[in-house]
Amino acid sequence: MGGAPKKQINLLRGWPNPALLPTTQIKLAADAALSDSSVSTPGLLYGPDPGYQPLRQSLAGWLDGFYRHTDPTYTTPLSSPQYFPNGNGNRGESGRPDAERICITGGASQNLACLLQVFTDPLYTKVWMVAPCYFLACRIFDDAGLRVSAVGEGSEGVDLVALEKGLKESESNAFEETKSTSNGFQASIEKLKQPKPWSKIYRHIIYCVPTFSNPSGKTMTLSHRVSLVKLARKYNALIIADDVYDFLQWPTSSSSPTLSTSPSSLRRALLPRLVDIDRMLDPIPNSESFGNAVSNGSFSKIAGPGVRTGWAEATRKFTYGLSQCGSSRSGGAPSQMTATIVNELLVSSALQTHIDTVLKPAYQKRFTLMIEAIKRELVPLGVSVAEDTVNGKDGVFGGYFIWIELPKGMDAEVVAGRAKEEEELILAPGKIFEVQGDERVKFPNGLRLCFSWEEEQDLVDGVRRLGRVVKELMEGKGGTGEAKVDKQDLGEFQ
Ligand SMILES: Cc1ncc(COP(=O)(O)O)c(C=O)c1O
Repeated sequence: MGGAPKKQINLLRGWPNPALLPTTQIKLAADAALSDSSVSTPGLLYGPDPGYQPLRQSLAGWLDGFYRHTDPTYTTPLSSPQYFPNGNGNRGESGRPDAERICITGGASQNLACLLQVFTDPLYTKVWMVAPCYFLACRIFDDAGLRVSAVGEGSEGVDLVALEKGLKESESNAFEETKSTSNGFQASIEKLKQPKPWSKIYRHIIYCVPTFSNPSGKTMTLSHRVSLVKLARKYNALIIADDVYDFLQWPTSSSSPTLSTSPSSLRRALLPRLVDIDRMLDPIPNSESFGNAVSNGSFSKIAGPGVRTGWAEATRKFTYGLSQCGSSRSGGAPSQMTATIVNELLVSSALQTHIDTVLKPAYQKRFTLMIEAIKRELVPLGVSVAEDTVNGKDGVFGGYFIWIELPKGMDAEVVAGRAKEEEELILAPGKIFEVQGDERVKFPNGLRLCFSWEEEQDLVDGVRRLGRVVKELMEGKGGTGEAKVDKQDLGEFQ
């Protein structure tokens, strides 16, 4: 064929495009932080266990503004008696905002490892990952020595029936294993760790990305969020929710105002977090309660992954326990100096402005370009995309990813292999989002397409190239038909 070699297009890489990084704002914030010794000195010393206090306070206010679903003047489905028959509005603990509920972390990945160190036991705790899952979390569970099972996402964000069945079964299996040696139930299941006054070992971990999930883009419904919290309470489970995409949301329908005409629209979260529901749902956790949900937040998607700073929010008791993680006790909270810079970004509103005026319009445009290309190039070939993606959930979509399903019988790994071989197109096939160690929930014809990394035109060209691969496969043409995804490419996966 000849001609110039094709430029590679990478729709696997889940990073922000470099043009979207707030470099200037971070430089100004760093200058401000390092020019004031009342900030730079604590910033450059060991930090307190739960993190840089001014950032904890700024975060409490900022998160409250975004997630303020319990404000009686703000009407949301949460006021619905359907979900809260005993009424709500009592936020539990000390009202809002509450810095004591927040810990500064080194980002969602680092904090997931800390959560497992403090609140799980390899003999006692079992993990349930909602699948398709954020693949890189699998190794964090494995490093902690935990056994992991998969539970499907279903149509509402988590398959509650399968999850409860699994929880029930694992309790009765444990009972069978221990009943001959003990007359107790849970208490008799062996633990490796000694009890510590600041922590609690949960029997189960439920790991999910409830809003604009990586990889599926799906958002868990409110009713499933409420039921999931109830289930976690019933089975002594901790829900770890990676709430890392919540701030990146935009209207999907053409009738909605565009974000360029209304940059501050959607400044409120689409739905309450699982941690908010756990805070408000009767019986409201008291000051001695560890609760059953933690929100694992991050500045990676809104400031930059290299910032390596995030936050965790849970009950005060839980948050204190998390701050007592061995590595924080020894080295102080993670990301201490960066926390001083991020605090400047929040206090000056530079980060909020960046989200409103740069990120949301950019991702809205990128999403629209890609979804239109999918409708044009792939849907006529039998590829499908969930309705909640095309039109959004209640007209809103967000995050970094679009999940598509190839025509039945078409192997996404083969498509990804062919795409690399013939089109210089890097794709993420469904297989890599199966839970490692429990591959029962499968995604043979799923593909995740990322719209945050490549240039806008390349998003469209990438979908066009994918269309050619799918068409050729349907017509039985080209390639060996056996090419599989190149594991090398997974090095840059997020
Ligand atoms: C669901 C999810 N959790 C965690 C992370 C990593 O977060 P962090 O950069 O804060 O470690 C990502 C990044 O892609 C993600 O998609």
